[in-house]
Amino acid sequence: QTGHTSLDYGFVNTAATKSAITYIDGDQGILRYRGYPIEQLAKNSTYLETAWLLIYGELPSASELADFDTRIRRHTLLHEDLKRFFSALPHTAHPMSVLSAATAALSTYYESHSDPHNPEHVELNTIRMLAKLPVIAAYAHKKSVGQAFLYPDNSLSFVDNFLKLNFGVLSEEYEISPVMSRALERLLILHEDHEQNASTSTVRLVGSTGANLFSSISAGINALSGPLHGGANEAVLEMLGRMRDSGESVQRFVERVKNKEDGVKLMGFGHRVYKNYDPRAKLVKESADEVLAELGVSDPLLDLAKELEEIALNDDYFKERRLYPNVDFYTGVIYKAMGFPTRMFTVLFAIGRLPGWLAHWREMNTDPQTKIGRPQQLYTGAPERNYPGVG
Ligand code: SDX
Repeated sequence: QTGHTSLDYGFVNTAATKSAITYIDGDQGILRYRGYPIEQLAKNSTYLETAWLLIYGELPSASELADFDTRIRRHTLLHEDLKRFFSALPHTAHPMSVLSAATAALSTYYESHSDPHNPEHVELNTIRMLAKLPVIAAYAHKKSVGQAFLYPDNSLSFVDNFLKLNFGVLSEEYEISPVMSRALERLLILHEDHEQNASTSTVRLVGSTGANLFSSISAGINALSGPLHGGANEAVLEMLGRMRDSGESVQRFVERVKNKEDGVKLMGFGHRVYKNYDPRAKLVKESADEVLAELGVSDPLLDLAKELEEIALNDDYFKERRLYPNVDFYTGVIYKAMGFPTRMFTVLFAIGRLPGWLAHWREMNTDPQTKIGRPQQLYTGAPERNYPGVG
């Protein structure tokens, strides 16, 4: 007996987190938001309609959705002082660092209206986060490319406003591409929630201490930035780019992965839960060909990704370990075709995941059973011993 485990102290085994928001069957490759299959939502819903579904539990009526959209449009402006905040950051700052820092900074403007136990504060700050995170994200993009920030255009839909904030310039009109608009809407829906993934669990854990909504979301953004989580979509493009630039064959790269040389992984493959094809990856792959063709873009990295998938899916190493493409494997090729810099890919994941974070934070915050999070530990350290000369 090397020491007491928490179980020895009679701690009740912390049951799994209970949630009514999203259902995943990893073996079957099933994903449902509030009971609706992701395939149906991705093809028929909108980002805001699905956000309402995740947050409130039912699809909104037309008037509810219209009011939700209007309230969000009315909160897209950031406090002017935040622009000085952005100017203090180096232009080399990773957009995910800018996103989490600016989100935490956002909470300083609303401290007197961020009581988690005040439903009006929670409602208004939910709207503020949905309205302002895309603007902060676009500012991070503009800062990284040295261009002037644009102000939100409240005459546009959520996705079209986001596209204009990222790609519009002060010196000319920006024409929204319906292809990009539809493709981005679908990609955002595919990312909106995914049950107790690392970043959502972080949002719930931080929120369980009584921390405000903005601080909890900022923590989730930081968790998402890791290359094993949301940062994988950026890492996939870097992986494909290295293969293209080095001329290394796909087969040789796969051998290095199987030999675990230098800890190299096949980024965009594998999942904690899915031991089958990630249903989102299937939908993203389907639209990759369509979007690139409609945008008139051909990208050898897409062909490389498909060749890599083909080889991996037929290789025993990956089959035995039940490793399949996940949501991050093909998304980057589409984001790149749209014109987003690689370092913005995980920011796009964060915009997508925001409604899920908000829904889970609110579910945790209103559940009377919620206690402060305290992950269980099994102690494996030294047994009791005395300080030299004592005892
Ligand atoms: C996301 O949780 C979520 O829901 C996350 C997410 C969401 O929507 O929120 O779905 C988004 O984060 C998707 C995952 C993005 N990350 C990547 O693509 C990074 C590459 N993938 C891996 O690092 C890995 O697959 C993880 C981190 C995703 C899962 O890690 P696990 O659970 O430790 O993997 P595993 O237990 O299934 O691994 C089993 C074996 C191990 O080898 P052995 O020790 O048995 O020899 O498979 C190997 C692993 O080394 N393995 C890989 C691999 N993933 C697992 N080998 C090579 N390449 C990989 N990608």
